[in-house]
Formats: sequence, C-alpha cells, structure tokens
Amino acid sequence: MLELKKLYFTAPVSDDENGALRNIIDGMDFTFEKGKFYVITGPNGSGKTSLAKLIMGINPISSGSIIFEGKDISNLSITERAKLGIAYSFQQPARFKGITFRDLLSMATGIDNEKKFLEMVGRVGICPLSFLDKEVDARLSGGEIKKIELATTIASNPKLAIYDEPDTGIDLWTIGPMVSLLKKELTPKTTSIVVSHNRAFLDVADVIIIIDKGRIVYTGDLKKALPLLTDLSICAYHYKCEGDQDARCLR
Ligand SMILES: Nc1ncnc2c1ncn2[C@@H]1O[C@H](COP(=O)(O)OP(=O)(O)O)[C@@H](O)[C@H]1O
Ligand SMILES: [Mg+2]
Repeated sequence: MLELKKLYFTAPVSDDENGALRNIIDGMDFTFEKGKFYVITGPNGSGKTSLAKLIMGINPISSGSIIFEGKDISNLSITERAKLGIAYSFQQPARFKGITFRDLLSMATGIDNEKKFLEMVGRVGICPLSFLDKEVDARLSGGEIKKIELATTIASNPKLAIYDEPDTGIDLWTIGPMVSLLKKELTPKTTSIVVSHNRAFLDVADVIIIIDKGRIVYTGDLKKALPLLTDLSICAYHYKCEGDQDARCLR
C-alpha cells in the first residue's frame, strides 16, 4: 500500500551557507503492506523522524518517490496526502493557544459527535470530561499533549497512520492500553507505522524495521532484531562518528 523507491532526503550538515550536504535518508527501498503493524526503531539521529516526515510530506523528497495505493504522492502537499488517508502524530506535537481539544477532534473528524469524542479520548487514558474543553496550549504536560495528538490522529480514521514515538512522556499505565488500541482495535483496518524504542510496541509488531544512518539495515521479526538493536545502542555518538575515528566512540 506504500512504496518507498530509492528515497533520499539530503540536508546541510550545518547552518553554514557553504555547509556540505548529508544524506539523512540514504536511498531507501521498501514496501509496506496493507493492514500490517510496522515498528520502526534505530539509534537517535538515524533518520526515523525524517522518514516519517517524508511520507507525510512535511520534509521534501530530494530524490526517489513515494507511491501510496498505486499513486505517486511524491509531489503532493501534506493536506493532499491527509485527504488520501495518511495521518501523522508528531514526536513533539505543536501547541495552539485558543484551540481546545474538542476543536482539534472536530477538525480531524469533520463531525461534531460528542459521544464518539468521549469514547475516543477515554481510550487513551485521558479523563474525557476534564480534557475536551481544555486549550491545547503550553500549560498541558508533555504526556497529555501526546495523548491528545494520538486521539486526534485516530479520530481522522486514516488508512495509513504514522505515530512518531507515541509513548514518549506517557505514564506507564497508559502504554499497555495504547499498544492494544493501536494494534488490536485499529489494525488491520489501518496500516500502522510506529516509531518507537519501546519493547511493548516491538513485541506486537508484524514487521520491525531498523534504521541506521538513514538506511534500512533490517526488516523482520523481533527475535533476529534484538541482537542488532543491542549492538546499535552501544554508542550515543554513533551517528556522528565512524567507528574508531572519534575518540568518544565506545566500539
Ligand atoms: N531539516 C534538516 N536539516 C538538517 N539536518 C536535519 C534535518 N532534519 C533532520 N536532520 C538531522 O538528521 C538526523 C536524523 O534526524 P531524525 O530523523 O530526527 O532522527 P531520529 O528520529 O532517528 O532520532 C539528525 O542528525 C538531525 O539533526
Ligand atoms: Mg525522532
């Protein structure tokens, strides 16, 4: 249902005008099948968010293409992709002064159905009555805003949903229900791509995709992924250095 074809995203290494370019997404080829639950993982800075943003149209493709349900969407805007049924939950959701959670849900669903709102909000562990009329502004905690973002994404009833680290900042009690909601209730109607390091998501993935340095280095089940994940997580400076070229490298 979604194909990445020789996908590249190139950006300057620094803000310096003459700065060299780097392939942040470095030639990805992959086909996501309809109705499956994919979990993308990999070291910090490996390109997971950049890939998610390329699929949603937030990042411009440098070269290659993205095909969604047989249609080349590479040059479509975010809105056009949303209309085709692609939804995206940000790793760091935006906050809007003066806009309530109810407004966001209403915009996402296009309807004003209170019962449906309450049911949806309840599922991500937010007290429905106290939250619906709260403003989605700086006063909300990091976890609260992530729950709101998730509910809004789900409310749009997407064909393809991309969740960038949906568990970040979320209390331990909500992670289990969140995994069940995304995996058991929404899949296979929705094809899901979850960016996460959380074992709870890795455990239920149909396919795990490991990204390192902008490339897909593994696709498959958890058992074979685990040794690779342990290896990749050794060094926090992994992206910036190449093996033993950096004195801080722990490899
Ligand atoms: N628009 C951009 N311009 C320059 N560098 C970027 C841009 N977007 C991401 N990067 C860099 O690309 C790398 C991958 O970022 P990201 O995709 O956010 O990683 P991840 O989500 O895997 O932690 C990081 O080093 C980040 O600083
Ligand atoms: Mg990220």
